[in-house]
Amino acid sequence: MAALTLQYPVHTLDGKELLPEGASLTDGVLEEVSSRGKEATSPSFPAMEFGTVRRDLVALTRKGIYRTIFGSDAEYRGLLRLLEITRLPLPVLDSLSFYKRNESYTYRHILVVFALSSHLARKMLDGFEEIVQESAAGPLHDFGKICVPLDILSKRTHLRRSERAILEHHTLAGYVLLSYYLGDSGTQAAVIARDHHERRDGSGYPRGIPLASRFVEIVAACDIYDALISPRPYRKKSFDSRTALEVITEMAEEGRIGWEVVQALVSHHRKGRPPPAECTVSLEKRGTPPEGNLYGIILDDDPRA
Ligand SMILES: [Fe+2]
Ligand SMILES: [Fe+2]
Repeated sequence: MAALTLQYPVHTLDGKELLPEGASLTDGVLEEVSSRGKEATSPSFPAMEFGTVRRDLVALTRKGIYRTIFGSDAEYRGLLRLLEITRLPLPVLDSLSFYKRNESYTYRHILVVFALSSHLARKMLDGFEEIVQESAAGPLHDFGKICVPLDILSKRTHLRRSERAILEHHTLAGYVLLSYYLGDSGTQAAVIARDHHERRDGSGYPRGIPLASRFVEIVAACDIYDALISPRPYRKKSFDSRTALEVITEMAEEGRIGWEVVQALVSHHRKGRPPPAECTVSLEKRGTPPEGNLYGIILDDDPRA
């Protein structure tokens, strides 16, 4: 497969350029970035003890539909014990403080996807090591957004094609940044950052390849669900949970996402929490998407696009 090429530079939160625009992400380049990261050795720290992360995450996940999804107190305590294991490099955690101050949508989204993907991982994955790795990858999936200007992240109107391309750069930027900060381009977290917008039918980005990893798909499904039901700058109202599940079910019908992860999401909405494999998913569409949702609509008036 041809090496990916960066359309924009990748820089760290403190403005240091890791790779320039036009760099090819060959194995050699990624190895060099990883070994530079190893030399820099960023200390790690428990994510839940950083700043107000624990308080904010609990506040977000114990209200509204998430109160139902995250279940009983006993189930929730088990989830918190898993989240408490995750340690992340300090510069990565600093990005959370940055978002908390500057882009609250992204801040809350990262915390919720951290909790939700860990919650699903406990249902869908078998080995403890796999579950821990998946849990640690969730809060890193959008790390590359530190390379996207805030005015694009928080834009309330249509994106231009060129702005959309910069937004999509967060996948490869996250891959390069995590190769650097984790000192390894092969970690689950780096792969998930790169591939969480890929789809099974090859309709996603950045590569447009058929997604075949359940580890990536768990985060992708949580990412889509949370993006639909959360407040976002580009629409007045969010999707309700029923309509969000219908959107994701339709994606499975179209072959864009796997049924297994849809069943896992749906089972968390059901009383008694049926095992995902036994959870029947309704194909009926009764929900109403919110009016004026600008997501995915591109204002194609940029002559350079
Ligand atoms: Fe993303
Ligand atoms: Fe995301």
